[in-house]
Amino acid sequence: MSIRTICCIGAGYVGGPTMAVIADRCPGIQVTVVDLNQARIDAWNDPDLSKLPVYEPGLDAVVGRCRGRNLHFSTAVEPAIAAADMVFLSVNTPTKTKGVGAGQASDLRWIEASARQVAACAQGHTIVVEKSTLPVRTAETVKAILSAAQDVLPGGGEPKSFAVLSNPEFLAEGTAIPDLESPDRVLIGGEDPQAIESLAGVYGQWVPQERILRTNLWSSELSKLTANAFLAQRISSINSIAALCEATGADVQEVAHAIGADNRIGSKFLKAGPGFGGSCFQKDILNLVYLCGYYGLHKVAAYWQSVVELNDWQQHRIARLVVQSLFGTLTGKRIAVLGFAFKADTNDTRETPAIRICQDLLEEGARLAIYDPKVVESQIAKDLSCSTDPDLWHCVPSPDQAVVGADAVLVLTEWSIFADLDWAHIASRMRHPAWVFDTRLIINQSAARAAGLNVWSVGIG
Ligand code: NAD
Ligand code: UGA
Repeated sequence: MSIRTICCIGAGYVGGPTMAVIADRCPGIQVTVVDLNQARIDAWNDPDLSKLPVYEPGLDAVVGRCRGRNLHFSTAVEPAIAAADMVFLSVNTPTKTKGVGAGQASDLRWIEASARQVAACAQGHTIVVEKSTLPVRTAETVKAILSAAQDVLPGGGEPKSFAVLSNPEFLAEGTAIPDLESPDRVLIGGEDPQAIESLAGVYGQWVPQERILRTNLWSSELSKLTANAFLAQRISSINSIAALCEATGADVQEVAHAIGADNRIGSKFLKAGPGFGGSCFQKDILNLVYLCGYYGLHKVAAYWQSVVELNDWQQHRIARLVVQSLFGTLTGKRIAVLGFAFKADTNDTRETPAIRICQDLLEEGARLAIYDPKVVESQIAKDLSCSTDPDLWHCVPSPDQAVVGADAVLVLTEWSIFADLDWAHIASRMRHPAWVFDTRLIINQSAARAAGLNVWSVGIG
C-alpha cells in the first residue's frame, strides 16, 4: 500500500519535528499533525517561525517550506484520522504517579485514548504506528483496542481493518533535524509484511535501505528502551568516574579521551556533567526496571535502577559541593545560574538537572539569578514552584546581569555562549572571594582563574 495521507496524534517534541521532516522529504504525502492542546497547535501555525512551540535548530526552515503545502497542524483529530492511510501515535508516556507501578511504570492513558480514537474514527484499512516510547508488549493493547472496532459496521459501508507497527524514534533534542534527516537507523517492528513495507517506503524516500531495520514488534519496542538505558548508563558510568577523578587528581576529560580511543568503547556519550536530564532517560529506565520486576528479574531491575540512583546522587553531590565551598552556608548569598535547559540547543526543561540542583540551593537559603537563552521564565516558575519561595529566585536577560553581586557562578547547561564569557569583566561584578562551578566543562577555566576566581570543574575538581 502506497501511503498518501498521514495523521500524527501528538504535536510535541517528537510529533512536530518528525512529521515536518516526513512532509519535507515526501512531497507526495499529505501530513496532518493533531493535538488536543489548542495553544500548542496555534504556536505550530504561528506565521512567525520563531514562535514554534519547540525550539530546534533548523526546524523553522523545514516547517516554513512545508506548512500549508503538505504539512498541517490542527485540533480536528477525528477528520484527520478518518482521512489517513497511516496514523502515528506520538503522545506522551510519562512515569505513572499513582496506582499500580507508580514511580516506575509508564502511564499509558494517552496511548490508550488515542488508540480508541483511531478505532472510532478510522475508515478502511489503516496502519497504526507506535512512535511513542512504550513498554514492550504495548502493541498487544493497541491491537486489542483496534480489533474491537474491526469489522464492526454500525452504519454499513466499508469494513475497518488495522495493522500495528512499532517505529520508535531515536532523535535527540537539539539535533532533531539532522538526526531525522540522516538517521543511524530507522527501526520498524511488525507482523504484517505489507504494512512494514509501506512504512519502509515512506522512510525509503530519503533513508538508505540498509539503514531501515525490520524486526518483530517486541524487539522493536524493547530496543528503544534498551538504547536509552545503554546511553544513560554511559553517562552514569562517566559521572561515577568523574567523582573519583576529583578525589585522585585524574582529569575526566583525559580519562574519557583515553578510553574512548578504544573503538570497542567509542568516544561518544562520555561527557561528565550534572547528570542526565530530559523527558526520557529516567522514565525509560524506570519503565525497564518495572518490566524486569514484573517478569521476576529482580537482579536485572536493581542493575538498571542503580543507573538512575547514580544520576540522582550526582545532582545532589554538585549542590552539596557548592554549599561546602561557600563556607557551609548559602543563606542570603547570591548565585548566578547559567543555563536551565537539560542540554544546549533546546528550550526543554523536563527533568533538567537544574531543577534539583536549584531546589537544593534554594533550600539552603541561596538567592538565584537564572539566565537561559531559550527557556522562558514561566517555565522555570513551573519547574521550581513546588518546593520554593518565588522571591528567592528571578530570571535575568543576560549572564552579565546574573553575576552582579554574586558569590558564585554555576554553569548548568553547555550553551556555546558560555565558552566565551569575559571572566575579567564578570569577576569585577562579583563579591569576593568568588567561585565558578563548571558542571559542563565549557568555560575558559584559565581565564576565570586569571581573573581571580576559584574554579571547580566536574571531574577535575
Ligand atoms: P510531548 O509531551 O512533547 O507531546 C505529546 C503531545 O501529545 C502533547 O502535546 C499532548 O497534548 C498530545 N496528546 C496526548 N494525548 C492526545 C490525544 N489523545 N489526542 C491528541 N493529542 C494528544 O511528548 P514528546 O516529547 O513529543 O514525546 C512523545 C513520545 O515520544 C514519548 O513516548 C517519548 O518517550 C517519545 N520520545 C521522545 C523524544 C524526545 O526527544 N522528546 C525522543 C524519542 C522518543
Ligand atoms: C535521548 C537519546 O539520545 C535519543 O536517542 C532518544 O531518542 C531520546 O533520548 C528520547 O528517547 O527521548 P535527549 O534526551 O534529547 O535524547 O538528549 P541527549 O543528547 O541524549 O542528552 C540527554 C541528557 O544526557 C542531557 O541532559 C545531556 O546533557 C546528558 N549527557 C549526554 C551527558 O551528561 N553526557 C553525555 O556525554 C551526553
